[in-house]
Amino acid sequence: MKITITGGLGFIGSFFSKEFLKEGHHIQIIDNFSRAGSEINFNNIQKISDRAALKIIRFDISRNPEALTPLLNGQDAIIHLASQVAVTSSITNPRYDFESNILGTFNILEAIRMCQIKPAILYSSTNKVYGTLDQITTIEKKERYDFADLPKGIDENCPLNFHSPYGCSKGAAEQYILDYSRTYNIKSTVFRQSCIYGPGQFGIEDQGWAAWMTIASVLKKEITVFGNGKQVRDLLHVKDLFNVYKSALSHINLISGQAFNVGGGVQNSRSLIEFLRELSNLLTRKIDYKFADSRIGDQKIFISDNSKANSILHWHPQISFQEGLKDLYQWTSQNIETIKNLI
Ligand SMILES: NC(=O)c1ccc[n+]([C@@H]2O[C@H](COP(=O)([O-])OP(=O)(O)OC[C@H]3O[C@@H](n4cnc5c(N)ncnc54)[C@H](O)[C@@H]3O)[C@@H](O)[C@H]2O)c1
Repeated sequence: MKITITGGLGFIGSFFSKEFLKEGHHIQIIDNFSRAGSEINFNNIQKISDRAALKIIRFDISRNPEALTPLLNGQDAIIHLASQVAVTSSITNPRYDFESNILGTFNILEAIRMCQIKPAILYSSTNKVYGTLDQITTIEKKERYDFADLPKGIDENCPLNFHSPYGCSKGAAEQYILDYSRTYNIKSTVFRQSCIYGPGQFGIEDQGWAAWMTIASVLKKEITVFGNGKQVRDLLHVKDLFNVYKSALSHINLISGQAFNVGGGVQNSRSLIEFLRELSNLLTRKIDYKFADSRIGDQKIFISDNSKANSILHWHPQISFQEGLKDLYQWTSQNIETIKNLI
């Protein structure tokens, strides 16, 4: 297949690009190189591919929309990952967030609409579109929150409730995609992703917390836990995320116009305190951390109910959190000199 990956030099995009190239697909990456580490990913991706199968274009999706259609014409699918990705940055610079996430997505959709044969679009949305979930009863335990009545977690019927500029821009973008799909007959799928982690993630305090805490622990830097540390996330390894996108590509006619929650699920859910304890066991030393006020829009608990993706896409996470954390830790330790220069 001919696949374009926007944001293909980021954490998820570079992982996907390498995997698709290994499987023999033709990959076109569109990225503006704005994320620290994109140059490193650029060099690493080039190493594994012959020139004919890979094209990398430095391009900002929120600028020069007229240049996009010729790039997307003839492609089978667009995996749209390019985005401003941090809630904190969206609060300090909401215009930039709007331009990257809403205008950028709109430009991609318009370009697809103008193509002679319209490629499918797969979009990386976020569980943040469900908001703070204050309407759901939670139980506070010693080290974590749990849902009182949702043993499988949050499914796609949960009402959308955008919080923070990032929540609004990702939510607006996914709704645009689903509506363009209906109105202009464009094949599409939206993934509302939980916390994604794994090797190749240059996490910073503002985004990619699991990678950031791992990096900070290895470097013995101070870690700040925002809130009481009992907030729970279900972590999904990037390889498992790749598998669900692959399944969506092969079932696109069946699932077009639908959104799926995808996360690690109940078994791979951890509070920040639990995460740090397991990391500390792996490092075989104590990790020091301090607490600070919780951040705007932070959910007490999010666990993805993956039932829909399981029944339609025959997908479920295969990499356990224990295995995934080892993988992340190993990659971080092996690349710590490179990472040190980026943060
Ligand atoms: N990592 C997670 O835990 C997570 C969770 C939910 C959703 N998501 C979504 O998945 C996608 C990928 O996330 P990631 O963790 O790989 O982030 P990332 O920051 O590593 O990658 C994003 C890439 O997009 C590029 N980019 C940013 N703005 C651009 C623009 N205007 N034009 C072109 N390129 C641009 C960056 O240079 C970067 O290479 C994002 O859409 C994000 O919102 C990620």
